[in-house]
Amino acid sequence: MNRYVVAITGASGMIYARELLAYFATRPDLELHAVISRAGEQVLHLELGLAPTDLAPGAIWHRVDDFTSGLASGSFRARAMVVIPCSMGTLGAIAQGVGRNLIHRAGEVFLKERRPLILVVRETPLSLIHLRNQVKAAEAGATIFPACPGFYHQPRNLTDLARQFAGRILDHLGLEHHLTRRWGEE
Ligand SMILES: Cc1cc2nc3c(=O)[nH]c(=O)nc-3n(C[C@H](O)[C@H](O)[C@H](O)COP(=O)(O)O)c2cc1C
Repeated sequence: MNRYVVAITGASGMIYARELLAYFATRPDLELHAVISRAGEQVLHLELGLAPTDLAPGAIWHRVDDFTSGLASGSFRARAMVVIPCSMGTLGAIAQGVGRNLIHRAGEVFLKERRPLILVVRETPLSLIHLRNQVKAAEAGATIFPACPGFYHQPRNLTDLARQFAGRILDHLGLEHHLTRRWGEE
């Protein structure tokens, strides 16, 4: 069962989603299910001038308002879900268990089924509500994976930076890749 879920929401940082999905495009052995929020579509267009299907042509796309999707049910098996980038709105909905769209519902399902859920949160500065929601989600089992790339590997450009960051997510998913230069292993 090599199935993964990637959800894109309307936070800044679409370049991270692009690089993560580009990795999945190189792995036809993995089944990728993707979903994007309405705000996500807007920010994707603003930041990269892309439509969702440009990102992951091989993925199985789900409509964000389709609660009949398999992603809405715990009986639909998948190894892990990544929300990238994750807006404070989606973080709040998942942390509070208020499932207003398919992304919130899928996040809720991953938590209740005790499956890995990675939230690539992005906002600055953070309000006390944002901070508390991160603690709440982490206590429920999510991994808070802030969109804070490292610079010590001296990225040559933004793509390099985002690729290295996507590599760190893949490390957490236990997926083999060559996106990250590994400190102490070069
Ligand atoms: C250009 C742009 C950048 C945004 N960046 C962020 C951000 O970094 N973090 C965030 O929480 N919201 C950000 N927002 C606001 C979210 O898109 C908005 O709160 C939206 O309701 C989130 O909905 P969603 O979680 O369903 O995608 C941004 C909006 C725009 C238009």
